[in-house]
Amino acid sequence: MNHKAIIITGGAGFIGSHVVRLFVNKYPEYKVINVDKLTYAGNLANLKDIEEKPNYRFVKADICDFDAMLSLMQEEKVDGIIHLAAESHVDRSIKDPFTFARTNVMGTLSLLQAAKLYWESLPEKYEGKRFYHISTDEVYGALKMDGSLFTEETKYQPHSPYSAAKASSDHFVRAYHDTYGMPTIVTNCSNNYGPYQFPEKLIPLFINNIRHRKPLPVYGKGENVRDWLYVEDHARAIDIIFHKGKTAETYNIGGFNEWKNIDIVKLLIATVDRLLGRPEGADDDLITYVTDRAGHDLRYAIDSRKLQKELGWEPSLQFEEGIEKTVRWYLDNQDWMDNVTSGDYQRYYDDMYKGR
Ligand code: NAD
Ligand code: TYD
Repeated sequence: MNHKAIIITGGAGFIGSHVVRLFVNKYPEYKVINVDKLTYAGNLANLKDIEEKPNYRFVKADICDFDAMLSLMQEEKVDGIIHLAAESHVDRSIKDPFTFARTNVMGTLSLLQAAKLYWESLPEKYEGKRFYHISTDEVYGALKMDGSLFTEETKYQPHSPYSAAKASSDHFVRAYHDTYGMPTIVTNCSNNYGPYQFPEKLIPLFINNIRHRKPLPVYGKGENVRDWLYVEDHARAIDIIFHKGKTAETYNIGGFNEWKNIDIVKLLIATVDRLLGRPEGADDDLITYVTDRAGHDLRYAIDSRKLQKELGWEPSLQFEEGIEKTVRWYLDNQDWMDNVTSGDYQRYYDDMYKGR
């Protein structure tokens, strides 16, 4: 497939910015159109290094704005869509589920319907087109501590408003393939970490707190398990799947890298302290056990063998190596962190953790 104009939604966010960067640098012959509403999580500073490239365009827009999405697709003659825009934080979804239904469900539907109308209006219709939806392993629910893994066949059983909204959007994407013949692909990825992640998520939040010697709010007993993947490995998988994945397929993406939260917290403390030249154990007492997250999923773990076997993708980094790179990045980019933790975010954060 030789795509010429690709919309990447949510390209000013954490994962989206890595995908935009990869596509803009790797495919100078493509036009990459980043569509982002710039919510609290969207930050154009994430893309400073590529914003002047001739094959890049930023459009500030809400994916729920169907008319704007349709006109943009017509104007740019879009033949590929990589859809990452979403509300992405479980804790926020517990406080404000409506926003999650609006963006994750209605926004996805608006994009699907705009793509349908545009592509069906062309003589070649869906030929050479692709709608690639980026989803999460959280749609599968929670695993027990028994070594089992989420496969592409695992039943959907979302528990949080975030995962319920993502599950719903996945169903809509598949429905557009089954009903209208739209060439869609869905991938479900495990927890990502790396540069440019908004510091409401575990890893950047805790790196910043350790640096400033602020308490580390570990939910429950810290025994929950997540499967962590370095964000650039996810972006590479997205590139491979966008170009070589089979239409209508689902691929799970994960690093076979399960960690208990409390073990990650200890690794983060040790890494930050070492890089800042603090004595070993200096910040262990920052660990603060707080009230557990409501409906907290015990364990996520992905079986990504299908992707590895069929498309030859492999994670490139060991976790300790990835964490070292990540901690260094946040310590070296304190301006970025100060910028995103000022103003509205700080007020939200104070409110969120009041009483925990
Ligand atoms: P993020 O919250 O960092 O970024 C989301 C981006 O979407 C932001 O730039 C935001 O401005 C934009 N956005 C939000 N609502 C919008 C709207 N209505 N219209 C246009 N833009 C809007 O999220 P992320 O962590 O980069 O996640 C990106 C995608 O990957 C999401 O779909 C998420 O469900 C999925 N995912 C994330 C992870 C993870 O660990 N972060 C894992 C698996 C899948
Ligand atoms: P998070 O980064 O929010 O991702 P997700 O909920 O999508 O997995 O959280 C990762 C894990 O860390 C999750 O089990 C919740 C836990 N956690 C804490 O213990 N304390 C925190 O302050 C945060 C943000 C998360």
